[in-house]
Amino acid sequence: MVSYSAKTQVLRVNAAYPEPNLIKQAAAVIRRGGLVAFPTETVYGLGANALDSEALNRIYLAKRRPASDPIIAHIHDARQMDELAIDVPTIAYRLAKFFWPGPLTLVLKRAPHVPANIATGLPSVAMRMPSHPVARELIIAAGVPIAAPSANTFTRPSATTAEHVLEDLDGRVDLVLDGGATSIGLESTVIDLTGDIPVVLRPGGVLIEHLRPIVPEIMLSPKYLATSGEDAPSVSPGQLIKHYSPNAPVMLYTGEVNAVIAQMQKTAESYKAQGKRVGVLAADEDYRYFSGIADVKLLGMRDDLQTISHSLFAAMRMLDGLHVDVILVRDFGRQGIGAALWDRLHRSAEGKIIEVR
Ligand code: TXA
Ligand code: MG
Repeated sequence: MVSYSAKTQVLRVNAAYPEPNLIKQAAAVIRRGGLVAFPTETVYGLGANALDSEALNRIYLAKRRPASDPIIAHIHDARQMDELAIDVPTIAYRLAKFFWPGPLTLVLKRAPHVPANIATGLPSVAMRMPSHPVARELIIAAGVPIAAPSANTFTRPSATTAEHVLEDLDGRVDLVLDGGATSIGLESTVIDLTGDIPVVLRPGGVLIEHLRPIVPEIMLSPKYLATSGEDAPSVSPGQLIKHYSPNAPVMLYTGEVNAVIAQMQKTAESYKAQGKRVGVLAADEDYRYFSGIADVKLLGMRDDLQTISHSLFAAMRMLDGLHVDVILVRDFGRQGIGAALWDRLHRSAEGKIIEVR
């Protein structure tokens, strides 16, 4: 596949009070059709002018992403919904009022002047108003909405630091604004508002529990409902695209926590006996069960799903750096941000779950 190549420049920027001259420089790159990676409160984005179809193509080329995955347009003012979309439903303004700026993406009907390749030809366009000062200032200075997928190459874990952006995209992005680590660490919640009933397409930074009071009728896309047992949807695991994946295969365990840990220990021991290098993504309290048999990356305390979520992608990348042969991880719970965490784990395991009884 052809790729986009560029001499990548990195600018260190103040995350809270971005330097206007640096933002101006980055905005100029966007306006001339180039690619700028920038921090948002969720993950780093790989940005281009959302109204320039050639610039949009460069995103797909740089990411080595098939042009089958639509891209989010980042805006700085809710009124831009009416510029980029048509027939905007009332609920969109309500959601915007409650959750923007923030980690919520709304899928609306695309206005005719918005290039079709932002949404791979779909009649829709996704929009989000990020709260990160660097993202906000960049969008304002560019004077155009900025299309940005997560700044990782296709299927890899999203980048939560500028170093991770460079790992994947050095030589394929014009400029990286380095604003340090992102705060949430998982991507935005995506809601489809083009149908009769709002549907969550991807759980993320805005919690379902917080959406429900405002949109009681909201539904979860069948993909994200129970994935095993009686409630299993018809979507088979194999259909889940590999995504958010480290290089090593991920083995995801669910069940009663002590039984799960015992099973993971047994598996780690047996891989080790075969001469394989095992990585474990673990809660802090679980360290002692795996030290000595695996390379353990600690994510945070068991009950602190926010911190575990924040650490996940970086920890996956660290295990990749150690060239482990396999990565073991368990279900940390699915309440609150746990829904998004579970989704990312589930996909990194390519939809395969090991149930421990
Ligand atoms: O937090 C985030 O959302 C980050 C930051 C950079 O904003 N962006 C991000 O983009 O995660 P990406 O491209 O990695 O994921 C965008 C998600 C995908 O699941 C995509 O399918 C969905 O949004 N999406 C985008 N446009 C869509 C559309 N028109 N219809 C349905 N889904 C859409
Ligand atoms: Mg992505």
